[in-house]
Amino acid sequence: MQLRGRKILLGITGSIAAYKTPDLVRLFIKEGAEVRVVMTPASREFVTPLSLSTVSRNPVESAFVRDDDQWVNHVELGTWADLFLVAPVTANTMARLATGICDSLLAAVYLSARCPVMMAPAMDLDMYRHTSTRQNIKTLAGHGVEFIGPATGDLASGLSGEGRMEEPEVIFAHVLGFFAGKSDFLGRKVLVTAGPTREAIDPVRFISNHSSGKMGYALAEAFRMRGADVTLVSGPTGLTPPGGVKTIAVESAGQMHKACMKAFPGIDVTVMAAAVADYTPAKAARNKIKKDAGDTPALALKPTEDILATMGREKKSGQVLVGFALETTDEVANARKKLRNKNLDFIVLNSLRDQGAGFHSDTNKITIIEKGKKPKRFPLKRKADVANDILDSISRLI
Ligand code: CTP
Repeated sequence: MQLRGRKILLGITGSIAAYKTPDLVRLFIKEGAEVRVVMTPASREFVTPLSLSTVSRNPVESAFVRDDDQWVNHVELGTWADLFLVAPVTANTMARLATGICDSLLAAVYLSARCPVMMAPAMDLDMYRHTSTRQNIKTLAGHGVEFIGPATGDLASGLSGEGRMEEPEVIFAHVLGFFAGKSDFLGRKVLVTAGPTREAIDPVRFISNHSSGKMGYALAEAFRMRGADVTLVSGPTGLTPPGGVKTIAVESAGQMHKACMKAFPGIDVTVMAAAVADYTPAKAARNKIKKDAGDTPALALKPTEDILATMGREKKSGQVLVGFALETTDEVANARKKLRNKNLDFIVLNSLRDQGAGFHSDTNKITIIEKGKKPKRFPLKRKADVANDILDSISRLI
C-alpha cells in the first residue's frame, strides 16, 4: 500500500489513449490512493464517466456546473490533490494550459492546483514534433510540470513514432517513485502555526503585525506532501487553508496558545512560524472607545504567554521543536539566544534587511541555526522551496 493516504487528481483529455485510464485508476486504488477524476468534455467520447466513477469510487467532474445546478469547486479540487496528473494530455489541452486559457473545469483546476503536476502527452507524431507543441511543452515545463513520455510505437493514425501515451504501468511507476522519495514524514503528527495574531483594543480595533502567513502555509503543505498528519493553527491571513490539513483558525495570542497547547502533547514535530504578539492590551474595552470621551487614551499592555517557550519547557524526548526569529539587528546572536532560552532543536532566522525576504513576499531567505553548529545560510528561494529546506533539516533529526 505504497500510496496509502495519497490524493491523486487525474485529469483526462480527448485522446484515444483515454480508454486506458480506468486501468491506471485501478492501479492507484489498489495501492491505497484516493483518486478523483476531472474530464474534459471531449474525453467523454473516448471513455465513460461511469467507468471512471466506478473504479475511482468517486463522482467524476467535467463541467463548472453539474446537471443538478451544483457549482463544482475547482479550487477545492486543486488544493485537495497531492498530485495532479493529466493523462492523456492532448496538444490542444497543453496549448490552453500553457497560455492560461481557462475554458474548462480541467483548465481551471490546473490554474488552482498547488501540488506538483505531471502530464503524459498523447498525440500523433507530427503534432508532437510541431514547433507550437514543442514551445507549449517548454512553457509548461517552465511552470514546473513534469512530463511522462510520450512513448514511441504504433499510433492510432497508422503511423509509427513518438507520441503514444506511456502505458498505465509506466505512469503508475513514475507516480510511485515520486511519492516514495517524499514520504519521510509519513505517519508523523506535525503542528504548524502561521500568520499574525490580533489583540483586541475594543470591539473594533486591534494590535497586529504585517505577517502574511505564507511561510507557515507553505510549511503545512510541504509536511502534508511528505506524508505528515498536519494541524495548522492559523491567525487571520485571508489565505485558503491547504487541502488535507486540519486548520484551526484563531485570532489572539491567547487563543493560539490554547489551541497549540491542547494539541502539543500528541505532536512529533512543531514549527512555530506565527508572528505571535508579545503584548496584548491589559484590558480590552467592552464597547468602542469614543474619541470625545475625554483625554487621549493611553494603552496599557500586558505580556502574552510565550507559546514556544512553554512548549520548550514541556517538550518530551523525541519531540522536535522549531522556532522562527525575525530580526533586524545582531541577527545570529539574537536568534541563538532564542534557540537557547526557548529550548529549541533549531531556529529559522529571517532578516528584514534581506531583499525579497520581507512580509507578504512569495520568497524568503533563511539561515538555520542548530544547537552547537555553524549557521547554515540558504539563498533567496520561493517559500515552497524554503519550506522543503526546513523539512530536510527536521527530517535529519527524526
Ligand atoms: N513566539 C511564541 N509566542 C509568543 C511570541 C513568540 O510562540 N508570545 C514564537 C514565534 O512563533 C517564533 C519565536 O517565538 O517562532 C520567536 O518570536 P519573536 O517574537 O521573534 O521572539 P521573542 O522571543 O518574542 O523576542 P523579541 O520579540 O524580543 O525579538
